[in-house]
Amino acid sequence: MKNGKLTVAIVGMGFGSCFLPIYLKHPDVEHVIMVDTNPDQLKALADMYLLDESYYTTDFEAVLQNPDVDAVHLVIPPALHAPMSVQVLNAGKHCACTIPMGMSMKELEDVIKARKASGKHYMFMETSVYTREYLYVKELYESGAMGKLQYMRCAHYQDMEGWPSYWDGFPPLAHPTHAIGPCFALAGQRPVSVFGRGSGKVRPELEKQYGCPFAFESALVALEDGETTVEMERFLYHVARGYSECFNIYGENKSFEWDQLNGDKHVMFSRDLVWENENRGGKIDEEYVQVPDYAHLLPDVIGRFTYEVAYDEVNPHLSFKQGGGHGGSHPHLVHEFVTSILEDRTPFPSDIDAAYWTGVGLLAHESAMEGGTVKSLPKYEEL
Ligand SMILES: NC(=O)c1ccc[n+]([C@@H]2O[C@H](COP(=O)([O-])OP(=O)(O)OC[C@H]3O[C@@H](n4cnc5c(N)ncnc54)[C@H](O)[C@@H]3O)[C@@H](O)[C@H]2O)c1
Repeated sequence: MKNGKLTVAIVGMGFGSCFLPIYLKHPDVEHVIMVDTNPDQLKALADMYLLDESYYTTDFEAVLQNPDVDAVHLVIPPALHAPMSVQVLNAGKHCACTIPMGMSMKELEDVIKARKASGKHYMFMETSVYTREYLYVKELYESGAMGKLQYMRCAHYQDMEGWPSYWDGFPPLAHPTHAIGPCFALAGQRPVSVFGRGSGKVRPELEKQYGCPFAFESALVALEDGETTVEMERFLYHVARGYSECFNIYGENKSFEWDQLNGDKHVMFSRDLVWENENRGGKIDEEYVQVPDYAHLLPDVIGRFTYEVAYDEVNPHLSFKQGGGHGGSHPHLVHEFVTSILEDRTPFPSDIDAAYWTGVGLLAHESAMEGGTVKSLPKYEEL
């Protein structure tokens, strides 16, 4: 750390490139090093952002050995997430990693154990818990306006034809965290058990890589209060439905439903306890809601990155291209990672959150493959 500021390495400059301008502008970041196995990708980004050779390397091992590097943000393909998180933590660096946390229940435990042994922090870079929608519903729920949480339903629908081949036939619920993360975070509860079902079928060549035949997977999750259930759905192939990472939250007094079409408005239902005109049923108001932006929670210099903006006056190119802005979440994630390190506190989401959010999907997939058995979650805090 230099002058109380961090040096951060970003590893994997595909989607990782969306975070580069934010780290470069963050007031508590001294230096940023891009790492990728593809030198052309590094050179192109360095040219775009007018960065010299101290800003990039293909040598991940050298970055781990470099005492000036405080933290590493991993944005590499999923099979590398857990092994490289363990490497980063074992090298004595703080680690942030994109979703999912790992590919197996064992990998989730490996990362938690490495984080504990290292004394460093691990942050799970789940975009869906820093979107405008999540921050808005959280504020509303915590104000007490929604009343008791009665039920939650969440989904991640995305057609992945033509994406890198490591996604081919990916078991839908092995990538559950965009959907389920906001529900668990809102409830502030851990999942205790899950029941999964597979539905439909993908073409045979998609089935080969991971042995999953299903087009769609869905699951019912029981939370620790013994009263609340969350339903989740996911597909990647062979379903005619547009992209959405969404949640519907049903409270006793207010409920939030995500828009049907991207760009539409979300809907709020409010239930009035006053019975009117002896009608059957309570009075339910329905209204569209305009979800506000939450840039005011961030330092000004990075707050503007909640929207797609020009990097600065010299560089007119836009701050994010690939992956969109994910509901304005990118600068919130960077700010949480950086400040949690400087304040020496557990970041949100932590490795324990990550393990529950990823593990519940891995077990739901296992359950679906067995035709629907109930699976219990381990207690990750007790590892
Ligand atoms: N909303 C979100 O949170 C979100 C959105 C998009 C992608 N992602 C995640 O980000 C990850 C990367 O996605 P992507 O679309 O950029 O993938 P990609 O395959 O298009 O790009 C990965 C990049 O990492 C580099 N790379 C691969 N192995 C490497 C290694 N060992 N060391 C250094 N660099 C390496 C590749 O050269 C490439 O530039 C995936 O795990 C994906 O799940 C998350």
